[in-house]
Amino acid sequence: MSTFYMPTRIFAEENAIKKHAGDLASFGKKALIVTGRRSAFANGSYDDLASALAEAGVDHVVFSEVEENPSVATVMKARDIGLANSVDFVIGIGGGSPLDAAKAISLMIAMADKGKDYLYAPDCPGKTLPIVAIPTTCGTGSEATAVSVITDREKMVKKSIAHKIFPDLALVDGRYLAGAPVSVLSNTAFDALTHLIESYLNSQATDFSRMCVDAGLRMWAKSLPVLRREKTPDAADMKNMMLASTMAGMSIAHTATTIPHGLSYAVTTHLRVPHGKATAYFTAGYLCEASPEDRNYLLKTAGFAGVEDFRTVYHAACGTIDAPEEELKKVLLAAIDELSGNPAKMALAPFPVDREVLERIAYFELAHSM
Ligand SMILES: [Fe+2]
Repeated sequence: MSTFYMPTRIFAEENAIKKHAGDLASFGKKALIVTGRRSAFANGSYDDLASALAEAGVDHVVFSEVEENPSVATVMKARDIGLANSVDFVIGIGGGSPLDAAKAISLMIAMADKGKDYLYAPDCPGKTLPIVAIPTTCGTGSEATAVSVITDREKMVKKSIAHKIFPDLALVDGRYLAGAPVSVLSNTAFDALTHLIESYLNSQATDFSRMCVDAGLRMWAKSLPVLRREKTPDAADMKNMMLASTMAGMSIAHTATTIPHGLSYAVTTHLRVPHGKATAYFTAGYLCEASPEDRNYLLKTAGFAGVEDFRTVYHAACGTIDAPEEELKKVLLAAIDELSGNPAKMALAPFPVDREVLERIAYFELAHSM
């Protein structure tokens, strides 16, 4: 059976915020803007939003304390600010962290009588305030998914909250990538690519999800010269990279991510490797476990000549993991142990995965860089 569910209204265009001020105003008279400390103020997105809201007669309050890997404490602090200001809706601007946080904050404002444990409470679908997502990086795709990853620092757990929350509106404008460092563009672009590959090589894949993957790969391939370091990104590249990321979000919204993402969390947590760089580290190994037909389709459609070409571009764009080999091996072992204990995640691969397969994928880069 194939089903397709994408309730987010997505407008992808230049000056999307300004052009859709009326849509923003349709959500109420006062907004809580959720963002990080810096980038939304540096790349122009906050200024565009503040003037669009003012023009539409919508008041706003800003919460700009969302950290990388947003915590339950941050969500609850922003919830209190939203409640104290009687906001009508929530707008997340930034990368995955502010967008994911905006979803959780919106839930907790609407469910004001609930405590923080409600975030992870299963079988409790709660209501939310309306949510607007404005991405300013090209990797997460959170504007087109129902996922919100929040970290419980007391329990040392980083995981998706139990509630599936799609934004109501996404305003997608590649111009906000212009101020991003090249390293951020590269790492997030590879995150988007891994979303596409893991959505395709997935036991939950359907004709509809693969339709999104195919469109996303073709869009992603247009920016390959940037990632090959053959050209500096121009406005068209930024637009294409942002679109590819949103399409990748739509792809995983229908499937979830699988082995490379599952292995990446330990690498990010212990070695502070950026998310996209960490997921793509395991992608060549994952592709090599797939059927030659699927592998060739994915690599060719994304613009690569083969696995070695993928690895060359990945290393040129994202670099290598800067850790002593013994330490890296320890972390990879921890990643394998962690994922081995998650049979549901392993079952998302479209081929049987046991510990031996996980080891081949996890150690692939080490084995091929010698
Ligand atoms: Fe990701």
